[in-house]
Amino acid sequence: MANTILVGAQWGDEGKGKIIDVLTDEADVVVRTQGGNNAGHTVHIAGQKYVLHLVPSGILRKKKTCIIGNGVVVDPVGLVKEIEGLRKLGIKVDRNLVLSETAHLVFPYHRELDAQRETFKGKNKIGPPKRGIGPAYGDKAARTGLRVLDLVNPARFKKQLEFKIKENNEILKAFGAKPLSFKQVHDEYRAAGDYLKPFVANTVILVHNAIRRGEDILFEGAQGTFLDIDHGTYPFVTSSNTTAGGACTGSGVPPHRMDRVVGVMKAYTTRVGEGPLPTENAEIADMLHAMGREFGATTGRPRRCGWFDAIATRHACMVNGIDELAVTNIDGLDTVKTIRVCTGYRDGAKRYDYVPNDIEVLSRCKPVYEDFPGWLTPTHNARKWKELPAKARAYLKVLADLTGAKLRIASIGPGREQTIFV
Ligand code: GDP
Ligand code: IMO
Ligand code: MG
Repeated sequence: MANTILVGAQWGDEGKGKIIDVLTDEADVVVRTQGGNNAGHTVHIAGQKYVLHLVPSGILRKKKTCIIGNGVVVDPVGLVKEIEGLRKLGIKVDRNLVLSETAHLVFPYHRELDAQRETFKGKNKIGPPKRGIGPAYGDKAARTGLRVLDLVNPARFKKQLEFKIKENNEILKAFGAKPLSFKQVHDEYRAAGDYLKPFVANTVILVHNAIRRGEDILFEGAQGTFLDIDHGTYPFVTSSNTTAGGACTGSGVPPHRMDRVVGVMKAYTTRVGEGPLPTENAEIADMLHAMGREFGATTGRPRRCGWFDAIATRHACMVNGIDELAVTNIDGLDTVKTIRVCTGYRDGAKRYDYVPNDIEVLSRCKPVYEDFPGWLTPTHNARKWKELPAKARAYLKVLADLTGAKLRIASIGPGREQTIFV
């Protein structure tokens, strides 16, 4: 399998967790490289549902090393809870999980600032799950953040946190928000630090040793291409590079050590939170929500839904260098008579065959659609390519052709077994 970067090719929630779980079968090491616990990756195994936020989805398979890389922002208290939750479900989490000592930390003041800034923005809000991700990456870029290696150094941590709480309480005061108690945050974080200490390591060295041993590494992307801080629909984005390059900087593995990029996409489009979504469509949203689908893994919010946007996925293919596609949720379209695919955008007389950068323009763009006949047959029991209805196969070929990459995986249900290798 070699070294594989897996990215979301749309607006997040493409089904990355499920595909990671499937591909982990052939991997030795799984690495998260960006984002934080704003991610929610769902995996269904033998009727049990697992939702991973910071821990790589590879943890659900035995004898795999799972790394939370330097590019991730870590809420240590949240991570402890997540580990405990997994252990309660019978998942082994000890030597198989490693936390980068240079990953930055998320603090309660980051979450509070996320919330205050959203309230202050009023109608221009981004709609984040308020996990403090933006403010934590802000501190990292401003060179004022605290890292895992600080958390596990009690004397230094106390000094640094004292200063940070003082500084942030002044900012919170300006917003009219309640100040934080240093002691409360300190005690909670130090307890988390003690709990996490055995997991902490220099993950750059670790991952390079694995490469030298010829092990196969899977880089688990979080969020999606159009939530990338550089390539997404700014400012309606997250605060990390969700595109393939983020896997390199977020792990310390150079680009020429990467062998392939897999892009995960739904057979339609979804988005949580605010920001442009050119193919948004109330009918398809109502249909999917009525089926009990497309509610967020992190917040339970109904996701916005629309038709497949081939302009967006082609763009994703370009900026990520996607070699292979994994198309998920094909079964979501089983009952649709005519399936629409966006093959262009129109803004008045101007037609776009790429995603315009100005979100005012993008928000005005009307999708140009091509229609395809639905297969009107349940697909969830198919296990081989030939067992898919001919019209479903034709539709998937169209998606791959328009996107410009090779179709590798077709997913027709949340379960591990509901996966077809093409
Ligand atoms: P991620 O953030 O990209 O890992 O995706 P999420 O887990 O947030 O959301 C994807 C949802 O789709 C989850 O509920 C998955 O269990 C589910 N899912 C993934 N692939 C399929 C599929 O092929 N069919 C169906 N019905 N559900 C799927
Ligand atoms: P996974 O990994 C879908 C969205 C949020 C919000 C915006 C900014 O499960 O695909 P942030 O937390 O950075 O302040 O959020 O991005 N968002 C996601 N949407 N899937 C995700 O992750 C997301 N992570 C963040 O809803 O609109
Ligand atoms: Mg998700």
